[in-house]
Amino acid sequence: MSPPLVIKNGTVVNEDGMFKADVLVKNGVIVEVSPNIIPLPDMELIDASDRLVIPGGIDPHTHMQMPYMGEVTKDDFLKGTEAAVAGGTTMIIDFCCPDHRNGESLMSGYNRWRGWADPKVCCDYGLSVAITQWRPETAEQMALITSPEYGVNSFKFYMAYEGTLMVRDDEMYRAMQECAKLRALARVHCENGAVIKEKEIDLLAKGIEAEATNRACVLAAQANCPLYVVHVMTKGAAAAISHHRAQGSIVFGEPIAAGLALDGSHYYDDDWLHAARYVMSPPLSRDPTTPELLMKLLAAGELHLTGTDNCTYDCRQKSLGKGNFTKIPNGINGVEDRMSVVWEKGVHSGIIDPMRYVSITSATAAKIFNIYPKKGRIAVGSDADIVIFNPNAIRTISADTHHHNLDFNIFEGIQCHGVAEITISRGRIVWANGKLQTVPGSGKFVPLLSNSPFVFSTQEIRERKNVPRIVERLD
Ligand code: URP
Ligand code: ZN
Repeated sequence: MSPPLVIKNGTVVNEDGMFKADVLVKNGVIVEVSPNIIPLPDMELIDASDRLVIPGGIDPHTHMQMPYMGEVTKDDFLKGTEAAVAGGTTMIIDFCCPDHRNGESLMSGYNRWRGWADPKVCCDYGLSVAITQWRPETAEQMALITSPEYGVNSFKFYMAYEGTLMVRDDEMYRAMQECAKLRALARVHCENGAVIKEKEIDLLAKGIEAEATNRACVLAAQANCPLYVVHVMTKGAAAAISHHRAQGSIVFGEPIAAGLALDGSHYYDDDWLHAARYVMSPPLSRDPTTPELLMKLLAAGELHLTGTDNCTYDCRQKSLGKGNFTKIPNGINGVEDRMSVVWEKGVHSGIIDPMRYVSITSATAAKIFNIYPKKGRIAVGSDADIVIFNPNAIRTISADTHHHNLDFNIFEGIQCHGVAEITISRGRIVWANGKLQTVPGSGKFVPLLSNSPFVFSTQEIRERKNVPRIVERLD
């Protein structure tokens, strides 16, 4: 057990306010937030003068140690969570992908992922489970895995990757009905897998993501199921979300760090390997104005939270696609750099304020996944997942200094104002003075309970309104 910790002289930032206060942490929990806490001799002292004291980041979208396309992603749960805390993220929600198509139960996949993650994680984590086929046993398995004992409150559906992860519309619709019944969130990777297959030569074709986002929104509305669109990469996809929200649908949009900082010009680089490093699905937008527009939509509340889709393949793995680009393993890094990149492109550029920054980097994720205010808030009773953030420090992102198990960094050379100087996970300092102080397995699995009020509190009323009405006619 770590000693009590006092953070003095900082500015506490929550999603709804910022104020000068000291913070006292005991046994992994925040026990006091007040103007002048006097440290006792047995307490560790952090001076946060000229620093912000913010909730640790929550990255709701990672793929650590994920087997896919015959390869396994390079960041396992140790390297991935070390990279996370080095960048000020103290919780990840990782995607567990059971081989359901080949009959693996959701529970068996879940146990595999827990077996990989539990001994390695250096910060807290939760799981979201992918459903890759609708099978006779799927509904029962979804019900089991959403029980408090297992703590899964969201499912992911791929509209891309035909033949492996992709579900058909009818399968997704059926599963969304089940999600609504279980008060679990449907998270959708929106791309038209069939069209991609036809047009692989022109993968960056406009409209593939927007069409699929619109289709997912329509199906979710039909199933009366709240929807979470992962990695919103284009203006068209963002517009589809705005449109359906204006129609009254509950839809959340998650842009990722890569999409907020980079555009698709990298795919046209003379160096094949350079271009391959940026291959992900959906691709970065060809329109150079998209990253700023996505940030503005986050500012406006039209998009809601930021993730990374951290899914790292190294140069050897990327080179497997030399000669056939469809064989390039899809995925990019992000978990270490998201907090700095979002600050740089959002706050430092004057588009969002620090409170909105907290909202889109932790608080909204905590609300959606039903762990607020335990996570995502600096308040008495909240977990002591805290970052001492220096908005005036500058760092240049580089593979030479990052903590990923990766031989490149897609953000190489980007200069960021805003640096996570100290990261505290459950009351323990895990990152300080540019050094990791992590212990593998010290992070905890956080059960995510269904029926998040932020998502489902109007569900019953919506269901009642949607019940078909019998019309009595005389003839
Ligand atoms: O390119 C991506 N997004 N790779 C990760 C796998 C996925 O699509 O979720
Ligand atoms: Zn993903």
